[in-house]
Amino acid sequence: MTQMTVLAATPAAIAEAAAALRAGELVAFPTETVYGLGADATNPKAVARIFTAKGRPRFNPLIVHVPDVEALADTARLTPTALRLASAFWPGPMTLVLPLAADATIADLTVAGLTTVAVRVPGHAVAQDLLRACGRPVAAPSANVSGHVSATTAQHVSDDFADAVRIVLDAGPADHGVESTIIDVTGPAPRILRHGAITLEAIQEVTGAEIEDATNLATGKTPTAPGQLTSHYAPRCPVHLGRTTAAPGEALLGFGPAMPPTTAPAENLSEAGDLVEAATNLFAALRRLENTDVTAIAVMPIPDEGLGAAINDRLRRAAAPRPSP
Ligand code: TXA
Ligand code: MG
Repeated sequence: MTQMTVLAATPAAIAEAAAALRAGELVAFPTETVYGLGADATNPKAVARIFTAKGRPRFNPLIVHVPDVEALADTARLTPTALRLASAFWPGPMTLVLPLAADATIADLTVAGLTTVAVRVPGHAVAQDLLRACGRPVAAPSANVSGHVSATTAQHVSDDFADAVRIVLDAGPADHGVESTIIDVTGPAPRILRHGAITLEAIQEVTGAEIEDATNLATGKTPTAPGQLTSHYAPRCPVHLGRTTAAPGEALLGFGPAMPPTTAPAENLSEAGDLVEAATNLFAALRRLENTDVTAIAVMPIPDEGLGAAINDRLRRAAAPRPSP
């Protein structure tokens, strides 16, 4: 068992983290969306450690992170639509699902045995430096225990994991606060699998084509993205949507200038009513409120436009009935 160390993301710490990745250990690192729990994607034992540490259902494949499109040669086959989206949004908070390269070097476990692979070129400077120093594709889900609220700070990562993670690179809070938008470009038309930091409208503008919304899992189908699991991003207590006040014993998660004053534990995602700011605060606010010993979290309505789609998606899943243990 290794001991977890949280290190400020200096060049020396990044070099140490890259060496740990190459040695098959787990490293949590900042991206512009949320913190990722990384492993060498070509090392099956290292990838298996991610699943064990997260307590993650085996059918969930992982996102492979690389520093640039060129680094995908041994991993994925880029289609013309993929190249168009890549040049518009990479480096950045977009993940593309692509056909696996014929001679792919990544472990089968990384893609859970699928013939497709999710890939992303993150824009965060620390993620970029780490990926370049590592020199191998890095598999990285969000650095939270499976089903729990995603981690947007190094502290969240150390709250969720003990000794399974070797190094946490700390570079302060993540910029966007919601995960990357996932677009499946393996079929005849692009499909969105998860709402995220880049809006559907922005993506549609680049593809020119109507994008099929596949973010809601049709019953009876195997989930292809974890955002498609009904209960996800869940704090330890229940979540109630569409409330304007908190009942006794509850906390209030508010949005905008109309949030009423309350003596209950409360957070306003954005007093100004700014959806970008709200996305940044979402996961940290849920984590703070679940730690106040309330019976539930009441959530005020949030407009469904722009980044509101990603925020409401996370909140609906946080409020969804939980599978019984
Ligand atoms: O912003 C993000 O995307 C963060 C940072 C760390 O990059 N990562 C992240 O990973 O959110 P994760 O594992 O929590 O959610 C990504 C999901 C996978 O769990 C999986 O269900 C979906 O992307 N995915 C991965 N490979 C796929 C594939 N071949 N086909 C369809 N969906 C896939
Ligand atoms: Mg996740």
